[in-house]
Amino acid sequence: MNIVVTGGAGFIGSHTVIELMQAGHTVAVVDNFMNSSPKVLDRMETITGKKIPFYRVDIRDRDGLDAVFGENHFDCCIHFAGLKAVGESVTHPWEYYDNNIGGTLVLLDVMRRHGCKNIIFSSSATVYGNPAVIPITEDCPKGKCTNPYGQTKSMLEEILTDMHTADVKNGDPNPWNVVLLRYFNPIGAHKSGLIGENPNGIPNNLMPYITQVAVGKLEKLHVFGNDYDTPDGTGVRDYIHVVDLAKGHVKALKAIEENCGVEVFNLGTGVGYSVLDMVKAFEAANGLEIPYVIEGRRAGDIDACYSDPTKAYEELGWKAEYSIEDMCRDSWNWQKNNPNGFDV
Ligand code: NAD
Ligand code: UFG
Repeated sequence: MNIVVTGGAGFIGSHTVIELMQAGHTVAVVDNFMNSSPKVLDRMETITGKKIPFYRVDIRDRDGLDAVFGENHFDCCIHFAGLKAVGESVTHPWEYYDNNIGGTLVLLDVMRRHGCKNIIFSSSATVYGNPAVIPITEDCPKGKCTNPYGQTKSMLEEILTDMHTADVKNGDPNPWNVVLLRYFNPIGAHKSGLIGENPNGIPNNLMPYITQVAVGKLEKLHVFGNDYDTPDGTGVRDYIHVVDLAKGHVKALKAIEENCGVEVFNLGTGVGYSVLDMVKAFEAANGLEIPYVIEGRRAGDIDACYSDPTKAYEELGWKAEYSIEDMCRDSWNWQKNNPNGFDV
């Protein structure tokens, strides 16, 4: 297929572009580099050995996007572009609604005017809120999102679903096909060590914080709470290797090819690890020590969250292959080779 990847220079997008190309698809990337570096593209070209068509366009720029879709015939869009920091979304809600919702509305309008009505959307386990039952299946009701970032994901799922439903009701012969992928906690990096997660400032997420302690940029890990209802009291999450996640997008194209209508898939491993499990796994995989201190809970955090990924296996033939050791090793390989991210 010929695929346009918005946000293709970002953490998950860059790994997905590589897997798409290696599976034989043709890819063009749209990104405005607001949370990534142009150097990522050079690295991606080194890994794939191919030139990657790139457009520096903000998805809110209707004319810019129109030109991209005018020059190409895309079969599908994989839509990663957006802002993703939970805390920042609380202090800057307008920016999150403008970029994530506003940007996606412009993208959808341009897509439909160019006859491309197939989209794979980056959603998040955050839409489940505090789940009543774990592991979480796709039919678990969506929960209350406690922050604007989560609201944008939940609203965009509704918007995309409504667009498909309206097409069907209106008898449109070419209705939208929508795949909503709910990611759990992506970590790890490409095995080459050339691309990986590159957070701005002090990381919010656990793994980049651990790797920055390991590389000496941060003194120690702050473990947010040890009084959760989990085996060791620290929060439990479903960590998934970013390359497995990327491969999930390649497999999701099968649903698009089969004119799926609207389909939702969890992308996770189905296994939960606590914060202290992750510290131990990182230490064991890399022969390093991670100093940590237990602190109070972080506002908005839940006890445990992990997926039931059965649907993606049964319907797409996808399951996560990488182990927690692989994830810890590859995260560290990326960080130690790129202590300053892409700014070498
Ligand atoms: P990222 O920030 O590394 O990548 C997003 C990319 O989109 C960046 O390259 C950024 O420059 C680009 N971008 C942002 N706004 C844009 C705009 N208006 N126009 C053009 N490009 C724009 O984030 P990521 O971790 O790769 O996440 C990708 C997607 O997956 C996001 O939608 C995110 O919300 C979602 N997601 C991420 C996680 C996670 O833990 N990383 C979990 C669940 C869902
Ligand atoms: N944690 C710490 N110390 C840190 C960072 C995190 O103890 O410095 C703990 C958290 O309290 C939590 C666990 O590590 O128990 C994981 O926290 P992350 O911030 O890495 O991940 P979250 O599960 O909170 O959220 C992430 C993304 C969300 C996304 C969600 C589900 O940030 O955007 O995964 O995909 F919605």
